[in-house]
Amino acid sequence: MKTEIRPTKDGSVTLYVPELDEHYHSINGALQESMHVFIRAGLEYVWHNQLEATVLEIGFGTGLNALLTLEQTLLNAQKVFYHTLEKYPLLPTLIDQMHFEQFIFNKQLLHFLPTLHTTPWNEPVTITPAFTLLKSETDLRTYLLPPDYYSVIYFDAFAPEKQPELWTDAIFEKLYTALQPNGCLVSYCAKGSFKRSLKAAGFIIEALPGPAGKREMTRAFK
Ligand SMILES: C[S@@+](CC[C@H](N)C(=O)[O-])C[C@H]1O[C@@H](n2cnc3c(N)ncnc32)[C@H](O)[C@@H]1O
Repeated sequence: MKTEIRPTKDGSVTLYVPELDEHYHSINGALQESMHVFIRAGLEYVWHNQLEATVLEIGFGTGLNALLTLEQTLLNAQKVFYHTLEKYPLLPTLIDQMHFEQFIFNKQLLHFLPTLHTTPWNEPVTITPAFTLLKSETDLRTYLLPPDYYSVIYFDAFAPEKQPELWTDAIFEKLYTALQPNGCLVSYCAKGSFKRSLKAAGFIIEALPGPAGKREMTRAFK
């Protein structure tokens, strides 16, 4: 897919996909959205109960969520196994052009960004003793996920209007099965049809205040 680099309101950047008329992150702040939805509402929540989180991310994209998750393992004595699915991997040269150093100021962390993008696909790689990365180049719709495995799912697909095939009852049943009991799925989306699909799959839903520019986001429990 062709992409263009675009600024967002918190000083971070995202990618725009003209073909879908869609951005990879919120234009109200990419960094702010990732921190609010995935790190604070997802990772930090599951870390209350366990020292090691198994994360499943839908859509590796720019690696921003992965990088911010890695940052948390550098700040806390806790571990993450990070499994991310991506159908359309981006070129590391495009990531260089996004200049993460203009909005992420932790030099130790930035050093890992190229590594996240250049490590091989489809095999687990130990990035640090506390962070293992498995990038699967695949389509969520056909990929077989292990049952009762993940403690948190970052559901970061393109919006339901842009990619309805990833927001179906069947997809959320599959993700429900892959979650550990008491595990949770977090998403920036708060649409009624999304919540109905989650409910139909068996999830218990919680509406939380959304990131900048959005009234609500969703956290759903198994
Ligand atoms: C909203 S972006 C994700 C942003 C990403 N989490 C980040 O931090 O940059 C959605 C991602 O889902 C990927 N994607 C689209 N269709 C997919 C599919 N069927 N299976 C897996 N990934 C898919 C896209 O290529 C894109 O990288």
